[in-house]
Amino acid sequence: MKARIVATASYLPEKVLSNQDLEKIVDTSDEWIVSRTGMRERRIARPDETTSDMGIAAAKKVLEQAQFSADAIDFIVVATSTPDYLMPSTAAIIQDAIGAKACGAIDMEAACTGYLYALGIAKAYIESGMAKNVLVVATEKLSAFVDYQDRSTCVLFGDGAAASLICSEGKGLQIEAITQGSDGSCKDLFIIPAGGSKNPASEKTLSERNHFMKMNGREVFKHAVRRMEQALIQCMEQAGINPSQIRYLVPHQANDRIIETLAKRLDLPKERVCRTVQKYGNTSAASCPITLAELLQTTTLESQDRVMLVAFGSGLTWGAAVLKSV
Ligand SMILES: CC(C)(COP(=O)(O)OP(=O)(O)OC[C@H]1O[C@@H](n2cnc3c(N)ncnc32)[C@H](O)[C@@H]1OP(=O)(O)O)[C@@H](O)C(=O)NCCC(=O)NCCS
Repeated sequence: MKARIVATASYLPEKVLSNQDLEKIVDTSDEWIVSRTGMRERRIARPDETTSDMGIAAAKKVLEQAQFSADAIDFIVVATSTPDYLMPSTAAIIQDAIGAKACGAIDMEAACTGYLYALGIAKAYIESGMAKNVLVVATEKLSAFVDYQDRSTCVLFGDGAAASLICSEGKGLQIEAITQGSDGSCKDLFIIPAGGSKNPASEKTLSERNHFMKMNGREVFKHAVRRMEQALIQCMEQAGINPSQIRYLVPHQANDRIIETLAKRLDLPKERVCRTVQKYGNTSAASCPITLAELLQTTTLESQDRVMLVAFGSGLTWGAAVLKSV
């Protein structure tokens, strides 16, 4: 028995933050942002709209799409780096709101790679017989942790959510192979330094703006390309396929230049590489499944078509997956 993604749906907040809007906030330009990142706009949650609210909206949508009762969910995994609270978990809040009565629920933090790690957990639960139906929700309110005084990071991130229903049977995308990796020696390259137990909130952490994301973009870029390429190759080997068998690549939407470099290295034509980066920016854990949801909405896959996911994030963490249409 192989776990498969039977449905995926996304939720994006209404408010659009364009490059022109950012020009009014920091010393930047539409030209710089487009040429360095490919981004033109991103979505921003309302001040009263939380990470769990967006996750709930995506979860309700996926249940409706699959005509699936929340009662039949055995386990919920929420991938997020921007939970509503340090405790309780965002997963418990989502479990209650969607009326999933008989299931466990956990948050899982692997930054932008979160969806791939959550898929791994869903696959393991289902294929070991511990669960039949797992709801994976990836949801991020990054705007709450973006420093809108720092032009090097504030142009990159947006808010959004997506949810996937992973089941032991049914039509969908079978999870053929997953690879995951991490390297904590690079933890300082992309970090929110304060607010955890190491640097609890204090006047000093507030005045140093250490509750916001800090990133060494240039170094992160180099690691992102290298690690994602490695993850893709390793995962294709595990699944016994080569790049010509990838019908669509759904990469993490951190930067169009990273996506282009990966596509070139795998010799994948443009039309087989999915992109939402221009309109949503980097939505961290939600970026792969938001892009996957858009692919599935606009394309009919043939049986046996392969879709590959690949992601990279703070930690560092990275991962890839081979999905087969069944
Ligand atoms: C962040 C990123 C777009 C920056 O692009 P870059 O080409 O590496 O640019 P640099 O950081 O080298 O900065 C080049 C110059 O642009 C400036 N700059 C930075 N942000 C700017 C902005 N928003 N507008 C205008 N200029 C900007 C810098 O200050 C620097 O100026 P200097 O040369 O006078 O010092 C790029 O490094 C990147 O995408 N990195 C990976 C980020 C990522 O994927 N993060 C998430 C991982 S999940």
